[in-house]
Amino acid sequence: MKSLTELSELIHQSVNNLQFPQQPSGLYDPVRYMLSLGGKRMRPILTLMACDAFNGEVKAAIPPALGVEVFHNFTLLHDDIMDNAPLRRSKPTVHEKWNSNIAILAGDAMFVEACQLVMNAPSNSVKEVMSVFTKTALEVCEGQQYDMDFESMENVTIDQYIDMIRLKTAVLLGASLKMGALVAEANISDANHLYDFGVNLGIAFQLQDDILDVYGDADHFGKQVGGDILANKKTYLLITALEKAQGDLKSELLQWISSTDKSDNKVNAVTSIYDKLNVRMIAEEKMQQLYNEALLHLEAIPIPEASKQPLKDLADSLMNRKN
Ligand code: IPE
Ligand code: IPE
Ligand code: MG
Ligand code: MG
Ligand code: MG
Repeated sequence: MKSLTELSELIHQSVNNLQFPQQPSGLYDPVRYMLSLGGKRMRPILTLMACDAFNGEVKAAIPPALGVEVFHNFTLLHDDIMDNAPLRRSKPTVHEKWNSNIAILAGDAMFVEACQLVMNAPSNSVKEVMSVFTKTALEVCEGQQYDMDFESMENVTIDQYIDMIRLKTAVLLGASLKMGALVAEANISDANHLYDFGVNLGIAFQLQDDILDVYGDADHFGKQVGGDILANKKTYLLITALEKAQGDLKSELLQWISSTDKSDNKVNAVTSIYDKLNVRMIAEEKMQQLYNEALLHLEAIPIPEASKQPLKDLADSLMNRKN
């Protein structure tokens, strides 16, 4: 069984070895820039871990793992345009450094590259792997559309929110794992349990992302703190605050989310309402609940404990992250 550190090293090296043409530089420089900024690379690591957990050949899972990472980076390029985000991994976003048209096209090229990489999965599993990947890619688009729709809706329910983050974020973690399991030719019931582990972990992960967006330490987080508040994102924190707030506090909150203010005043005011309502703790409890549900799916897979350990280590590190 390969450790988290070994697999992480393998993925970082493999991503760094990806080659893109020099010309047109307007297309490929932003691709190189984005991939050079690093990131946690957790999705491709999950793919390799899943393959290893079912005694598959880890090397064979590298191309689809890289495909998942390139796909993820493509979604970030487009997401940053949609979210009007200035910072990514502590550096200017592609649309800020270049412009939105450049970021759109670089993203498109990355999606094509991602498909090519996934198609290089071993021939005995490539059809199933590709089918999980394309289904998931479409679901991510659906989730991103709900995320944008919700910005201008006042009455988003917790269930709608959970479904939105399941689509925009969590299914890709599930798919990363399932693709690795399929390369290892795991049986379908085990592969699906691993998928559900990933989806629940992914929901917990996005809850954490929403919490860090408000309470993260700017130096570690690498993204603009308060960006979700400025964009009126219907996060778990905001939906809970809207549910709990009463009287003047509720009017104040409603006023802020109907305002187009893009200043720190709005971020500070909304954060202080969150603090008064204790929504951070409520969100953390929900995150813990999803994390526990994720682990139940891992328990259900009849493989040795030692095979699951790297997955548990990674999941655990994600719940205690600063970026
Ligand atoms: C950011 O994903 C997008 C979300 C789903 C919250 P990551 O937090 O995995 O980003 P990187 O790749 O590590 O930068
Ligand atoms: C990201 O959600 C989901 C996708 C990129 C598909 P966010 O918009 O919260 O991600 P960050 O916070 O910008 O990384
Ligand atoms: Mg974003
Ligand atoms: Mg977004
Ligand atoms: Mg976010």
